[in-house]
Amino acid sequence: MMAIRHAYLPTILVSTLMTIACSGEHKPGYTADVRPILDKHCAECHMPDMEGATKSGFQVDSYASIMKGTKLGPVIVPGSAESSTLYILVAGKADPTINMPHGKQAISANEIDTIRLWIDQGAMDN
Ligand code: HEC
Repeated sequence: MMAIRHAYLPTILVSTLMTIACSGEHKPGYTADVRPILDKHCAECHMPDMEGATKSGFQVDSYASIMKGTKLGPVIVPGSAESSTLYILVAGKADPTINMPHGKQAISANEIDTIRLWIDQGAMDN
């Protein structure tokens, strides 16, 4: 009897830990979480007519603009941050000379994570 009861213990522990981990994962929204990061770190160069926007075509003035991407096409692949140029650049996973924000200190780990989660969760207009 004792042996059977003990065998269940790891299962209970693992499922409890998974519940804690899942409830702790936040769901960032475009308006509340992502937009403020882009406004703070990218707008100075990526609003229409600014250098970053005219050179690359990438503008951060609206959800539609960021989903449109650059002159060459989208920089966000909904559902996959790792495949998204936007994430690769802000996460410092590209060549240091092209990381964003351009020539400035990287955005915080927390902000990078917010963008990653938002893209992985579908990059919705939420
Ligand atoms: C100090 C100005 C500046 C800031 C701040 C800045 N950028 Fe840029 N960004 C540029 C310039 C300039 C280019 C064009 C680079 C080129 O084509 O030579 C660019 C290009 C880009 C591109 C296109 C890259 C490509 O491979 O086509 C993306 C995407 C981008 N920026 C995203 C961002 C994001 C996101 C932020 C904020 C976290 C940001 N940028 C902040 C200046 C800036």
